[in-house]
Amino acid sequence: MDKIRIRGGQPLQGKIAVSGAKNAALPLLAASLLTDEALVLRNLPHLADIATMTHLLAQHGTDLSMAGTHPSGGHMGQVLELRTGDITSTEAPYDIVRKMRASVLVLGPLLARCHQARVSLPGGCAIGTRPVDMHIRGLEALGAEIELDDGYVVARAPGGLRGGVVVFPRVSVGATENLLMAATLAKGEVILENAAREPEVGDLANCLNAMGARIEGIGGDTLHIQGVDRLRGADYAVLPDRIEAATYAIAAAITGGKVELVGARPATMEAVTAALAQANVSIRPSDCGVMVETGGGDSDGIASIDVSTAPYPGFPTDLQAQIMALMTVADGAAMITETIFENRFQHVPELMRMGADITVKGATAMVRGRGGPGGAGLHGAPVMATDLRASVSLVLAGLAAEGETTVNRVYHLDRGYERLEEKLSACGADIMRLTV
Ligand code: EPZ
Repeated sequence: MDKIRIRGGQPLQGKIAVSGAKNAALPLLAASLLTDEALVLRNLPHLADIATMTHLLAQHGTDLSMAGTHPSGGHMGQVLELRTGDITSTEAPYDIVRKMRASVLVLGPLLARCHQARVSLPGGCAIGTRPVDMHIRGLEALGAEIELDDGYVVARAPGGLRGGVVVFPRVSVGATENLLMAATLAKGEVILENAAREPEVGDLANCLNAMGARIEGIGGDTLHIQGVDRLRGADYAVLPDRIEAATYAIAAAITGGKVELVGARPATMEAVTAALAQANVSIRPSDCGVMVETGGGDSDGIASIDVSTAPYPGFPTDLQAQIMALMTVADGAAMITETIFENRFQHVPELMRMGADITVKGATAMVRGRGGPGGAGLHGAPVMATDLRASVSLVLAGLAAEGETTVNRVYHLDRGYERLEEKLSACGADIMRLTV
């Protein structure tokens, strides 16, 4: 079980190359099931979740071949060619799905292409129960017959899916993506209302159109899809990871450093940029991405800000733990409200072990910053990772803390951050992975 050891206090200086977005790559990989032709995906990040998805696709009959690496945004993303000539199994087994809930994204493509699917329910995870009821209701609106049997979603669509209108009761990234993929091969027009607007959904829609789908309204909350008989292959590059980029922006801020995020797309980071500007952290476009540095306001310290997570284009829930870490060293009190998941404050007790002053009441955490003149700051401690974003918030706190921090269970980190310790140590952080 690997650990990461950090000795805090070094301001980060230098460049960090942003990898391809995990949350775009996963649905794009699933989309390969929709065609018997080759789908080439570029700029894929080297992450555990990507490996899990390729393993799942292989057992559905997809042939995968590494097609080298591809220079993108100052780093080499992996290139994968996927070809599913025949789908040999329409079952997504529990032992794979339980490792990664995004496996549920094969449901829509299997149903669309094979008119049947048996996909394990993903089960909950550390941040919440994470049901898939909206995925199921949406597919039923397109004519699917679905029942739950023995922990599996058993779906059939004799004669294929038909056109229809799906109104999501709340914004769901995964449900939007599943329905979008299913709709591409439906007989007729599908309208998705209250669809998720995350850039990763847009990336999937753009790739599907490159494969011959007919999707309109990309980027908005109403998507119109005219079903087609078949999709062809395509060659598509995954967009840069806005959550990874913003995580490293906060790493620069929490250490009082200055970092250029190579390949970052400012247009996908507007809510974060606005929030950090209020916190006295500037993120401005540069020749090859964005430049992040603290100060420039009426003080050099981090100002406390209130944040409430929301679907895109609001402040991302995937950055809530990271902004909280920053607020623990700000110069006042900050209220952080989590509106998307019901249990996404697992990082709080661990940050408190490092001296953070945080009070949680329901969906809101009050953070009393330890920064500012004479502030006590944070001190290093052994801490436990619980989920992907909570883990990285502990790394961020360790970068600012006095002394040594050891983050345990770093397999959570490896699911979503490619070469994290390499990228940070290249900017001067005293961080290393301990294999025990
Ligand atoms: C995606 O998860 C992301 N994962 C998550 O990132 C991200 O936090 C989330 O979207 C919100 O932006 C991937 O893209 C692989 P949702 P997803 O459906 O699709 C509830 C990370 O750290 N809901 O938008 O599972 C759900 O419980 C991960 O990279 C239902 O009730 O999220 C949640 O409270 C974590 N019924 C809310 O909606 C459903 O059928 C939003 O979930 C579906 C969702």
